[in-house]
Amino acid sequence: MNDVLEQRLVTPSILSADFGRLAADIATVIDAGARLIHVDVMDGHFVPNITIGAPVVKAIAPAAHERGAALDVHLMIEHPERYVDAFAAAGADAITVHQEACVHLHRTLAQIREAGAAAGVALNLATPIETLAEVRDDVDLVLVMSVNPGFGGQRFISGALDKLRRARAFLPAAVAIEVDGGVSLDNAAQLVRCGANLLVAGNSVYGAPDPSAAFRALQAAVTAA
Ligand code: DX5
Ligand code: ZN
Repeated sequence: MNDVLEQRLVTPSILSADFGRLAADIATVIDAGARLIHVDVMDGHFVPNITIGAPVVKAIAPAAHERGAALDVHLMIEHPERYVDAFAAAGADAITVHQEACVHLHRTLAQIREAGAAAGVALNLATPIETLAEVRDDVDLVLVMSVNPGFGGQRFISGALDKLRRARAFLPAAVAIEVDGGVSLDNAAQLVRCGANLLVAGNSVYGAPDPSAAFRALQAAVTAA
């Protein structure tokens, strides 16, 4: 999994896909070259929206894995430690928990790795990167939110640019940096230059008239940056 995380990748978020035809929508972007599929799990408590749980991850995992892509599961939920094992068993290849939702972050990160997944931590806009000082060597990826989490299609918040730069300087080189929220063709290259190597893209892929073409254009911009 870490060989995937170290690449420069656009990671389509199925939050903006058609939930009635998830497998087909996943296949579309994988056929266009996607190697990592972003899955947004929301509980209606940590964020003001409810999406999907482990049974849905289990249902879509074959559509990704059979085509050579991995599942990047972003848990926007309270008490994520209660659900880590279920998501890993369902087929999650990377599991990202929110710093703000974990009282015992070190323990939860170890739990994710023990479950066989890559371990990620997400930071809300107001949470400083320095809060990860004591777990820098215990994470495989750090997700920098560039919108307030809960919904797709929101506008990118520019303060995330400097946070990405500081994150890249602060984290070991082996830790992947993912940016999530409001990613588009207008900012993709700049986000890479600021230090992100994984760019989540929901609305700018699945909200486009041709998601396959939109993915390719974004990935080309990221590769060329
Ligand atoms: C937001 C989610 C994002 C979302 C991004 O809470 O974590 O992953 O899908 O969507 P866009 O790319 O539309 O901003
Ligand atoms: Zn996300």
